[in-house]
Amino acid sequence: MSTWDFSKTKHHILICNGSSCLRKQGDEVTVAIREEIASHGAEDLIHTTRTRCNGRCEDASVVTVYPEGNWYMNMTPETGKNLVRGLLQSSTPLQEQISFSYNQGRFAPSGNGATGMLPSVGAEKKRAKEKAMAETKEQ
Ligand code: FES
Repeated sequence: MSTWDFSKTKHHILICNGSSCLRKQGDEVTVAIREEIASHGAEDLIHTTRTRCNGRCEDASVVTVYPEGNWYMNMTPETGKNLVRGLLQSSTPLQEQISFSYNQGRFAPSGNGATGMLPSVGAEKKRAKEKAMAETKEQ
């Protein structure tokens, strides 16, 4: 258990370790990002957290960076290292791999990522499926 002082932290990288991302090198991406941060002695500047599924499995392996609010897709160990190098140069790295960026109060799609569906549509589909199953059981 750790309690970090974030007073010097500029970026928080969330690295998806959900099952879809783990099948697409999520663990290797995590190790590569952390090794790159350590190789630059940048542990105070960039904090990382492994997460469960972030809801963008078709974009696996997924990494998000805050406070920028950039969602990265199709990450590999190599692009993970490039991400860290770019952040340390105060740039917005890997723009071609950004699927969503926070802009004017919401996450705007870049057009690079999977189309996906709104959670409300997914919930609606789930309710319709459950209703159909219940009706089948009644017959
Ligand atoms: S497992 Fe990574 S977005 Fe779903």
